[in-house]
Amino acid sequence: MEYPGFIQKVFEKLDKLDQDKIKDIIRKLSAEKELYKLVFDSMIEGVIVTDWERKVILVNRAMEQFISVPRGKIVNTNILECKFIDKELESVIEDAYKNKEKILDREIHISRSDKTFLLTMLPLKDEREEMGHIIILVDITEKKQKELQLRRAESLAALTTLSAGVAHEIKNPLTSIDIHIQLLKREISKFNEKDVENIKKMINIVKEEIDRLNSIVQDFLFAVRPMSVSLSKENVNNLVSETIDFLKYELEKSNIKIKYELEENLPPVIVDPKYFHQALLNIIKNAMQSIHHDHGEITIKTEEDISGDVLIHVIDNGEGIPDNMMPKIFEPYFTTRKSGTGLGLVIVYKIVKELGGDIKIKSKVGEGTTFTLKMPVLEKKKKLLTYEVKNETKVVDS
Ligand SMILES: Nc1ncnc2c1ncn2[C@@H]1O[C@H](COP(=O)(O)OP(=O)(O)OP(=O)(O)O)[C@@H](O)[C@H]1O
Ligand SMILES: [Mg+2]
Repeated sequence: MEYPGFIQKVFEKLDKLDQDKIKDIIRKLSAEKELYKLVFDSMIEGVIVTDWERKVILVNRAMEQFISVPRGKIVNTNILECKFIDKELESVIEDAYKNKEKILDREIHISRSDKTFLLTMLPLKDEREEMGHIIILVDITEKKQKELQLRRAESLAALTTLSAGVAHEIKNPLTSIDIHIQLLKREISKFNEKDVENIKKMINIVKEEIDRLNSIVQDFLFAVRPMSVSLSKENVNNLVSETIDFLKYELEKSNIKIKYELEENLPPVIVDPKYFHQALLNIIKNAMQSIHHDHGEITIKTEEDISGDVLIHVIDNGEGIPDNMMPKIFEPYFTTRKSGTGLGLVIVYKIVKELGGDIKIKSKVGEGTTFTLKMPVLEKKKKLLTYEVKNETKVVDS
């Protein structure tokens, strides 16, 4: 149905049309109007139409959201008097009116919704006269943020390569110092006993510091270098006990009890066991370091979650992590420990993400912390589906 010509003809013939015909035309017209309204409201661009007096006559749904004002509040108001208009937008629109200019893709920011848009403003004309204006906003907030993130990631990547180079350079002389200290140790055994004792003490201090520097550099390099994983199907309960075995002596020394709640018959997880051990080790070590009382307890729980993946919880009854510290614990070099490097959780995060897993943390100061790893499973347990064949029910594997 074409509006102007068609309606003109209907008007001319109105006296001759019967009630049913008129009803039919009105029904069709209103269906058509609804369709246009739906199209207008489904657009992702925000649209405002003003009449020749600059009064707002139409606002679509996207625009309502962009400017955070219900359309009822601005329809029939002069566009330049609308509250959502902040100074920047007001002057752009005013200039366009004054200079009878079109605006195409001008970047503007609306502070009310804290969003960035591309503004287009065009005159609304039929064949003869200007009837008003159409103002279109395209939300580019997310695109701009992504661009910013990309730029940050690029500069971070450059910095990472640079620092990995420096760390590598530190590592070589460290190894050489280490070897020479050992040679020195051997040489001084030829001296008299008292001197030897003193020199040995000093050398041991130097050696300890070198070891510490070495492990810092190693952790750092691990954190920044790409990983090369070799995945295999593993039983998570076995991986847990192997890690605990490795820590047995330290756990006994710090008088911390280990409790197990391991679910049997878990599906195998797809991990690189070497890296998984490393991640679990860092988490358990953190749990151990958080306990400063003598009834320390760490519970390791494994289970299958609803999605079929495997969860590994490490639950400690240590000091807990204050809420304001939570966002920082995965940051490189964030540490509250005297001899910590703050790279432990950076490594955990990197490993878990590389293995396609996820980490969640729950913590309460004074009560303890739970770290949960969610690891992917290749073959999730088969759910049973049923379907009907001629009155008999069959069971199939999904
Ligand atoms: N289970 C936990 N309980 C309480 N605080 C924790 C726990 N796990 C981590 N944290 C906090 O997070 C910080 C960062 O942990 P992360 O393992 O990255 O570094 P770190 O343990 O300090 O040093 P390292 O590099 O030697 O591991 C810790 O210093 C500690 O404050
Ligand atoms: Mg740690």
